Amino acid sequence: MIQLEGKVAIVTGGASGIGLAAVKAFINKGSKVVIADFNEKGGKKAEQELKEQGQDVLFVKVDVAEEASVENMIAETVNAFGTVDVLVNNAGFGSMSASHERTYEDYLNIVNVNQGGVFLGSKHAIKEMLKNGGGSIINTASVLGFVAQPEALPYNAAKGAVVTMTKSLAAEYADKNIRVNAVAPGFVESGAVNKEALGDFYDGLVAKHPIGRLGNPEEIAHAIIFLAENEVVTGTTVTVDGGYTA
Ligand code: NAI
Repeated sequence: MIQLEGKVAIVTGGASGIGLAAVKAFINKGSKVVIADFNEKGGKKAEQELKEQGQDVLFVKVDVAEEASVENMIAETVNAFGTVDVLVNNAGFGSMSASHERTYEDYLNIVNVNQGGVFLGSKHAIKEMLKNGGGSIINTASVLGFVAQPEALPYNAAKGAVVTMTKSLAAEYADKNIRVNAVAPGFVESGAVNKEALGDFYDGLVAKHPIGRLGNPEEIAHAIIFLAENEVVTGTTVTVDGGYTA
């Protein structure tokens, strides 16, 4: 089992929701953590709160869909903490719109962040991990990478790609001691997913989860930590979905 104490972990989309829960979970394990997000306000707030608790944490502003920005994220991490042991490619978002009305620009934007961000983050972290003798990458996919959500075509497509990219990278770098896994959450109470914002649609989502509720960010972070610690797991997507895909 990998001991995460003292290890350096980057969490993209770390300023809120699942990412912030993952940041805290790595900190609880004694890791040094980079909160990487393009939400500067939320990221700096989380950084300050955790620093006040005496934690080794750094906020780095990043757009995961811009290569120069991702390169800078890795450089700032190495500059502050010396290396990269774990990368959680978690930044992502989706939107609902009929496919025949969605613009191509909007399609590409969703694909670029959810799928392109995994490519760019992995590419530049792997360069660093190869110098280290290994590392671990964990991608946030989604149950919507397995099953359709009407009017969420680019998100469905990108999260499906994240599942196969996870396998592809795992196979490519296994002999370099770099493991690559993903977590596929069902709907989770975070970001735009809450009763207040979604109303009746929220009730419909709950009905799709046989356990009778949505997951919470900490339950997803728990699976991320499992994937970071377990040395034999690679190329896997762990589904954490309250039975949504059962
Ligand atoms: P969230 O909106 O709370 O967090 C997403 C974070 O990513 C935000 O802090 C946002 O600023 C950041 N972000 C977005 N685009 C970015 C970019 N281009 N560069 C850098 N940072 C960027 O949402 P949540 O729910 O925590 O989502 C985290 C991940 O989990 C996403 O990949 C999402 O697709 C996935 N997911 C979420 C589910 C849910 O029901 N909430 C279900 C399944 C997957």
